[in-house]
Amino acid sequence: MKIGILTSGGDSPGMNAAIRAATRCSLYEGIQVYGIKRGFEGLIDGELIDFNVSSVGDILHRGGTILETARSNTFMQVEGRAKAAMILKSFGIDALVVIGGDGSMRGALALSNEHGIPVMCLPGTIDNDLGYTDYTIGFETAVNTVVDCVSKIRDTSSSHERTTIIEVMGRNCGDIALYSGLACGAESILVPTDELDVPAVCKKVIMGKNRGKKHNIIMKAEGVKMDSYELAKQIAQTTGVEAKVVILSYLQRGGSPTASDRILASRTAAKAIDLIKSGCKESKAIGVRGGEIVDYNLEEALSMVKQPKKDYLDLAEVLS
Ligand code: F6P
Repeated sequence: MKIGILTSGGDSPGMNAAIRAATRCSLYEGIQVYGIKRGFEGLIDGELIDFNVSSVGDILHRGGTILETARSNTFMQVEGRAKAAMILKSFGIDALVVIGGDGSMRGALALSNEHGIPVMCLPGTIDNDLGYTDYTIGFETAVNTVVDCVSKIRDTSSSHERTTIIEVMGRNCGDIALYSGLACGAESILVPTDELDVPAVCKKVIMGKNRGKKHNIIMKAEGVKMDSYELAKQIAQTTGVEAKVVILSYLQRGGSPTASDRILASRTAAKAIDLIKSGCKESKAIGVRGGEIVDYNLEEALSMVKQPKKDYLDLAEVLS
């Protein structure tokens, strides 16, 4: 048997751990492995490398992806996917392991539907925006990075008695903002699934100031419709408190993965190889639910909607 492994879309800490585990579990089972560079784009360009055990040595702790990644426009076209399928066929590849987020999984599903290639998808994204899994690979590391940054920002915010809006990634999902906001004791957490209530945010700033608080941290998900600088302007105008904006941006995607992300990556990859080895011809999405590794039909997984964590938001509200 032969498999191909690729990473696609935005990188996330733990992708290397997944590449390593998928490679080593395969080789252990006597399956030949090709590492595919630059995601679906590299597949179309035929950038395949014959992997051995050492190809994935010394990468477990590294952020980014040794295979590199891309967002491929060519692969979004039927012709691009036909070319990708042709390359897979010419290398004799029986199944593909794709490590990426929602967009990558949708691309994988199209490839699978059009060309009958089984694709095992691992949830590699910091966004935690996939409905079928409790956690995605890289999310915990990103949250820890945000928490670390907020500690530093809080120091200077307190010194200057400023309000700081910290804008975090996540596309339309508010989980990075929610988890890091809860972990940091943010005064306000703004997520895309909630109506933005600027007067309520301003009230918190004023109440904090009146009880002698030196800082005010507002954790804002990038998916919230109002621009962060506009929000800062409105807060400053209404409260008289200086408001600054920090956009953490790509910082959140880097760094060594946490132990949990490495373990999640290793377990989901092992499951993918298990499925391939046992002859599974269906495309699957692999994830974790209540601590157990789960697999779903890929199409079904992609139809599951991420539920907003109202209890987390309510708790954060009480604690702030
Ligand atoms: O999906 C991961 C992510 O980092 C999102 O949080 C963010 O909106 C997006 O990717 C940024 O994409 P790009 O790397 O293409 O700028």
